[in-house]
Amino acid sequence: MSSYIIEGGRRLEGEVEVSGSKNASLPILAATILNKGNTKLYNVPNIHDTKITQEILKYLGCKIKKNNGKIEINSKKIIKREIPEQLMRQMRSTVILAGAILGRFKEVTFSYPGGCDIGTRPIDLHLAAFKKLGVNISEDSGFITCKCDKIIGTNIDLDFPSVGATENIILASVYADGITKISNAAMEPEIVDLAKFLNKMGAKIEGAGTNIIKITGVEKLKDVSYSIMPDRIEAGTLLCAVAITGGKVKLNKVILEQTGCEIKIENKCVCLKAPKKIKAVDIKTMPYPGFPTDMQSVFASILTIAKGNSVIVENIFENRYKYVSELKRMGAKITVEGRIAVIKGCKKLSGATVESTDLRGGAALVVAGLVAKGTTTVNKIGYILRGYEGLDKKLNKLGAKITIKEEKE
Ligand code: EPZ
Repeated sequence: MSSYIIEGGRRLEGEVEVSGSKNASLPILAATILNKGNTKLYNVPNIHDTKITQEILKYLGCKIKKNNGKIEINSKKIIKREIPEQLMRQMRSTVILAGAILGRFKEVTFSYPGGCDIGTRPIDLHLAAFKKLGVNISEDSGFITCKCDKIIGTNIDLDFPSVGATENIILASVYADGITKISNAAMEPEIVDLAKFLNKMGAKIEGAGTNIIKITGVEKLKDVSYSIMPDRIEAGTLLCAVAITGGKVKLNKVILEQTGCEIKIENKCVCLKAPKKIKAVDIKTMPYPGFPTDMQSVFASILTIAKGNSVIVENIFENRYKYVSELKRMGAKITVEGRIAVIKGCKKLSGATVESTDLRGGAALVVAGLVAKGTTTVNKIGYILRGYEGLDKKLNKLGAKITIKEEKE
């Protein structure tokens, strides 16, 4: 995998546009399977994960045409009902496609999705929900086959407000017989975007964004065009990148104060002005609307040079501190005990050669490299390219100096 070479110590300032949301694009791309017709999507970020998802759609039989920012998906002739293992393994969220295939064809076969380095990522809540919807599930040498004559609407109470399980239940229930009610549903904005898209196609989904979601089965969906919401985690990453350098930024196309940053929100833009010295804050990651787990590592980066000590509690994933050992190579003072990380603010970070451990962990190293004294090389940027479209270009537009060193084959 290639590397980012980052020259640190440059104050970032300016204006930059946020791309479409990865975590809204993936379930919405899956949802196009439900419409036996043509769907036009705009503002889908051009990243590894959306490319893999489109590969799977093509494997299933969808025809995909792309031209300047528009993706047109024709799902009329889907001939396959199984997701290829080598593609399943490339991405955790491929399991979302299972709900969509099941919702339309009442059968699907897939292998356990690839885990990420942030945790085991089980899918027990997904499978338990499918069973409650009347689906028979069998497992054989790592493959899971789900089959039923019809999906029967029912009440499902989730043990945990799982984003993926909530999305999978919605996708599987769009054509169900009767009504499906999800209690303790995840409330993330990306679920609201999925429901808005499905309702525009003619589905009947109420309560998305709250912890009770009701899906009334319908017979048919229609062709629509839809623009994906902006990526709130990319927006947060860019704000942290500017904050750590003491800079100033205007983010366009988006929906940080306790650290002392001045944040102004004006029609669809967010403006941030960082203080000379960031203040320490304590963070607990929680399901939406709590602090997002996907921002935990990037926020930890800015806290490494804050005034005072910060405590982070990671309540969502059991292994989301792998990036800490890399930050410590740059002089960060962090101790991790289970789900708790204590960060002692230090005067400065020093450039070093570090390695991305996962998508958001890699982004945290880039943010640290922007303020570190000297040059930082971030290796294995393939992880970062999974979820950030042109992160180097966007940061360079704000005054950073990031070059890419391609890995020799
Ligand atoms: C989604 O993952 C996001 N991915 C993640 O973003 C995000 O961190 C996560 O939600 C939490 O907000 C996409 O939307 C593509 P979960 P998902 O199901 O659906 C446990 C990123 O960086 N769990 O809400 O996999 C699970 O182990 C990625 O963009 C079960 O135990 O998250 C975890 O501890 C990373 N059994 C917790 O729930 C299950 O069946 C939250 O998982 C499902 C989940």
